[in-house]
Amino acid sequence: MSCRERVGTQRHMCRSALVALLVTASLTGCHQKAAAPPGEPMLAAVRGDQRAAGLTYAEAQGRLLFQQYCATCHGDEGKGDGQNASNLNPAPPDLTAPKAAPDAVYLRRVIAQGSAAVGRSPLSPPWGRSLRAQEIDDLVLYCRALARRKSK
Ligand code: HEC
Repeated sequence: MSCRERVGTQRHMCRSALVALLVTASLTGCHQKAAAPPGEPMLAAVRGDQRAAGLTYAEAQGRLLFQQYCATCHGDEGKGDGQNASNLNPAPPDLTAPKAAPDAVYLRRVIAQGSAAVGRSPLSPPWGRSLRAQEIDDLVLYCRALARRKSK
């Protein structure tokens, strides 16, 4: 039943009930486009990033995670120029340098257990207890994509 029909059948209702009906109809979307389902803006952001950066879907998700958890030290694009980088010694490395294209096993260990787990300083924190395995996998893929893009 369309909004108009629905309103038409209510003509004999008292005025306040009609007003209430109209308000309800507009709030429930009769006069509006349906609201995007939850999660849609996040997916749209991932797809936009993915297209812009030539990344796979998983790499693009890794990029969002990187911007959230790693960029403060590593910089938005992994160049080692985050807001907090100048406070760190050793400084975060440029992850886009071709020499920084380490294998996935090494990257997973650094990300999940921290840089101390690969014999370096403890400055890159361990994320194994706060991020899900899938999120760590996506970060690994994104770190590899960073190095891959520079070396092209
Ligand atoms: C508090 C700052 C900080 C944060 C947050 C941080 N890192 Fe680091 N990261 C560093 C520093 C500093 C180093 C260099 C450590 C060293 O060489 O001793 C490093 C090293 C690394 C390395 C090793 C690179 C190489 O050349 O071996 C990787 C990979 C890495 N970080 C990934 C990440 C990822 C992914 C995140 C987010 C999930 C992250 N880091 C969050 C500071 C940070």
